[in-house]
Amino acid sequence: MKIYRLTIIACLLFAFLPAAAQKFENLAPTPPMGWNSWNGFGCRVDEKLIRETADALVASGMKDAGYQYVVIDDCWHGERDAQGFIQPNKEHFPSGMKALGDYIHSKGLKFGIYSDVGRLTCGGRPGSRGHEYQDALTYASWGVDYLKYDWCASEGLNAVGAYTTMRDALYAAQRPVVLSICEWGDNKPWEWAKPIGHLWRTTGDITHCWDCEENHGSWSSLGVMRILDKQRGLRVHAGPGHWNDPDMMEVGNGMKQNEDRAHFSMWAMLAAPLVAGNDVRAMSKETQAILTNKDVIAVDQDALGIQGFPAVSEDGLEMWLKPLANGDWAVCFLNRANEAKAIEFDWKAHYLKDDNFQKQLDAAAVTYKIRDLWTKKDLGTTDTVFRTSVPPHDVAMLRLTR
Ligand code: GLA
Repeated sequence: MKIYRLTIIACLLFAFLPAAAQKFENLAPTPPMGWNSWNGFGCRVDEKLIRETADALVASGMKDAGYQYVVIDDCWHGERDAQGFIQPNKEHFPSGMKALGDYIHSKGLKFGIYSDVGRLTCGGRPGSRGHEYQDALTYASWGVDYLKYDWCASEGLNAVGAYTTMRDALYAAQRPVVLSICEWGDNKPWEWAKPIGHLWRTTGDITHCWDCEENHGSWSSLGVMRILDKQRGLRVHAGPGHWNDPDMMEVGNGMKQNEDRAHFSMWAMLAAPLVAGNDVRAMSKETQAILTNKDVIAVDQDALGIQGFPAVSEDGLEMWLKPLANGDWAVCFLNRANEAKAIEFDWKAHYLKDDNFQKQLDAAAVTYKIRDLWTKKDLGTTDTVFRTSVPPHDVAMLRLTR
């Protein structure tokens, strides 16, 4: 009888105890897609820009192509009120964040916001340190779906602890939120962040150049090729629900069209979060076509969630491979050089393997159909030698289908 009573008490206790904190699962089975204000606008953010951007994401076809999150990066903040609750900047967001979130949701999109582990954000606005649970509650009341959480003013903080605190705060607030960890790869988040966040930055900030480094004094931002080179060795750590983030895109922000195309293709090969950072209200037709190329997006969003890798590298020309669902492969020839490169590739003469994920591209045993994902042309099969010429800073991107 005693045991019976104890069992009932234990069951009741478990039923009423709050569930152990964890990250919200199933929010990012494929890499998150969206738009973020930082690369194009820096601190110049206001509700008009965000509303117009939401409208443009719909009108341009980007929403239909998969872009979902509208993320306001740094500098939306005003002061904390007397109780410590964060307020938006009243001049730039006079209607308030709940109204803005409602507007974004009314367009079928999701609402993202930015904060920082420290007392101040990178832009010197109030960070979340000491206010994590309060901020998570506030975001939930605004309808926030995505939080980018930065690492400025983090002196003395342990990264695992700081990001776990915000994860737990979001979980306690009970509104599912994608947690985007932004500590620039400083503490090797790929080794510890899988149970904490849904994506983690692997590097410092990107900038809109092909292969430059821009010095800002205590830190530098990196061009697209430099960011790409820093992804080596990280692919084994990414997969559905937990992604390496090589930073938001610079497509449409000043590089040449072929460089933008190569940048977008490589982010897809990396299974990177596809977060546009340009002015989508005023983009060129060419930029729009790049950002909405559904075949390339399908490579990024493939259900296997395996990050691609460079299989062959020769004299500025790289051949990247990405295993896809159903035995398909994405193949991307990246020309990093300043002159065009001729390609002659005999599929049957190469046995290509992905040792990390045990996949084989064996054209001697299997005949694959080939489609060019930028020209949208079917190019026969892997039974014939593939010949093309890739312009400088450009790609030839193919899908091989069984
Ligand atoms: C850091 C981040 C950027 C951006 C800025 C905002 O540099 O890495 O992506 O969020 O802060 O100040």
